[in-house]
Amino acid sequence: MPPADRFSAPGPDASGHWSVEGLAARIPDDFTLGVATSAFQIEGALDEDGRGPSVWDDFAARRGMIADGDSPAVACDHYHLSPADLDLVAGLGVDSYRFSIAWPRVQPEGRGAWNERGWDFYDRLVDGMLSRGLSPMVTLYHWDTPLALEHDGGWLSRETALRCADYAAEAGRRFGDRVDRWVTLNEPVSVALNGYALGIHAPGRQLLFDAMPAVHHQLLAHGLSVQALRAVGVRGDVGVTNMHAPVHPARGPRDWIHARIADLLLNRLYADPVLLGRYPRPPLLATRPFRYLSHVPAEDLVTIHQPLDFYGVNYYYPARIRSGPGPIPDGVSATTAIARTPFHLADFPEYASTGFGWPISPMHCAVLLGELRRRYGKSLPPVYITESGASFPEPAQADGVMHDDARIAYLASHLEAALDAIQPGGPAEGVELRGWYVWTLMDNFEWAAGYSQRFGLVHTDFETLERTPKASYYWLRRLARARRRPAVSA
Ligand code: FCB
Repeated sequence: MPPADRFSAPGPDASGHWSVEGLAARIPDDFTLGVATSAFQIEGALDEDGRGPSVWDDFAARRGMIADGDSPAVACDHYHLSPADLDLVAGLGVDSYRFSIAWPRVQPEGRGAWNERGWDFYDRLVDGMLSRGLSPMVTLYHWDTPLALEHDGGWLSRETALRCADYAAEAGRRFGDRVDRWVTLNEPVSVALNGYALGIHAPGRQLLFDAMPAVHHQLLAHGLSVQALRAVGVRGDVGVTNMHAPVHPARGPRDWIHARIADLLLNRLYADPVLLGRYPRPPLLATRPFRYLSHVPAEDLVTIHQPLDFYGVNYYYPARIRSGPGPIPDGVSATTAIARTPFHLADFPEYASTGFGWPISPMHCAVLLGELRRRYGKSLPPVYITESGASFPEPAQADGVMHDDARIAYLASHLEAALDAIQPGGPAEGVELRGWYVWTLMDNFEWAAGYSQRFGLVHTDFETLERTPKASYYWLRRLARARRRPAVSA
């Protein structure tokens, strides 16, 4: 690691908005700072110690699905390097580490026998966090469904929800005394939309609106998993993580109707049932695609609507909706489904964009928190931003430090916007924002984009596996240290 203190983070930006110390002074006393990762993106060791294949192993092995034909076989090799990676997290001085358990590592078939060697890995990982003063936040399902379950229908089948709850119960039995926060599912929207509707993520189905059962069964898995975790007596808080993207119509009336549908598909289909116990009503012109959801058993919605200790939000970008199928984004495999969508995400010419081409708008982080308050009011539990971050091309090196200043600006401005939003008179006044997790610790396997999108605070050399903290790592460390209180686990 280069000598950290040689790096000095930039002061206030041109408009005088923030400095590390200024931002730190605004962080509430009991606010959690953390970093997040997910198993499939960092672990590698896909065939080791009895792990079973996941839908992502299978998808990545298909030709043309992953940018540049990249393979997830090694990724960051975190499976073998986890102690050093935990040292990196601890070195940040943050409070908490969000990671996911690979379901096929602990239950290779997704049902039946447990794989003790898989559980041992996470056992050591959790103890490694605790011994470093890091509070564990576990995600149970971050997209790596055991392949055997997919062969039986995956999330199109109700059975998968029941199996997920069995797995949740077992994880709860094993770690219930040591884990502070449980996230049942990460972004069910991404799995349903990218995985089952468009086919640009695993399992690569192209069902368009016929993917609705994958929405419902994931939500059912969430509700059943909350019940299962509580039934085995976990002592930590239990919640879920949804992605949210505030939606705007691009221009005319057709865009407006499509924007309403997009808002349902991206946001409300997942938040309404979890927080209010009902699916949102589609606009009259679009009832047919949502019909499946109006026929699900009423008691499922009771199950889905569990009281939660927190609500996790991943925010990356706002969505601008234009009617008609759009251009296929870079790094996305061309599927026939994507060419048949009734609308697409249009550019925001007024905003700069990330390496992925995602529009950068910290203001929309505030808009989104305000939207949650308006829509869910007292039904909204305390909120964690469970992912916030951006990909940028390889940073320039100078004085032994990788200067990813664009990432620092992104992170600082988004945290600032979130903290602003909850102030008295702010759009999200009354929302109890409990913490913020940076996506992500280190450059990793970014799903269909392979290794082409670098989101890390730490640079990963995918040839040598060497980790090198970037300037943003030292920025976050300064922020964590400059807070009003010593960094203790919350
Ligand atoms: C989120 C995913 C996470 C990562 C970031 C960039 O949607 O939860 O795994 O891919 O996007």
